Amino acid sequence: MSMRNYTAAIFDLDGVIADTARFHYLSWKSIAADEGFDIPKVVDDRVKGVDRMTSLNIVLEYAARAYSTAEKEALAARKNERYIELITSLTSDDVLPGARELLEQLQQAGIGRALASASRNAVAVLEALQLMDLFDYIADANYITYPKPHPEIFLTAAQGLKVAPVNCVGFEDAEAGVTSIKSAGMFAVGVGSATLLREADLIVPDLVQFDPASCFRL
Ligand code: BG6
Ligand code: MG
Repeated sequence: MSMRNYTAAIFDLDGVIADTARFHYLSWKSIAADEGFDIPKVVDDRVKGVDRMTSLNIVLEYAARAYSTAEKEALAARKNERYIELITSLTSDDVLPGARELLEQLQQAGIGRALASASRNAVAVLEALQLMDLFDYIADANYITYPKPHPEIFLTAAQGLKVAPVNCVGFEDAEAGVTSIKSAGMFAVGVGSATLLREADLIVPDLVQFDPASCFRL
């Protein structure tokens, strides 16, 4: 385990801080059902960390026919309407275990905290969870050119915090996200499945199990 004194922490949102991965999956499942097909459970992992259009293309691998660009745009918009409907039920109770406590500890220790989420709904989710105040910088997915696994979003977050990537720790629940962190030259903490996230430098089942003293000077 690394004992470096990292000075910033950059978090993925869905599946690391917010219990929202299930809402993305449910929304895609309902879109598939409308179109007359079903998606298997593996799609849940496959769309983690993956931007909206790429996720739709994964979902459509299970469809019986090809879809035009216009049809795809309509389906992606419909999925987003369902997702927005589902996240209206979010409250501060939907913060994943350990996330708020970790953010508060890091804030008290003067460690920078940024968000690097592929979701265009990230600010709405953070507001619903009442976590906005705990972040110094939010990388805006709307202005990111290359989706995860490309490092751009994690690099943008580090730049926003004015911290060199080598001094940052990234937290991710998705395979594409861990690749993004590693490509950015950061220390990667995988949150979740040890098999899915084996590329990470450190893997924890959830943020309760993450010991901040292993990476940061508190
Ligand atoms: C990521 C999720 O955080 O955001 C993906 O893990 C999702 O499953 C992506 O597709 C894009 O989200 P949105 O809210 O912009 O459709
Ligand atoms: Mg995620």
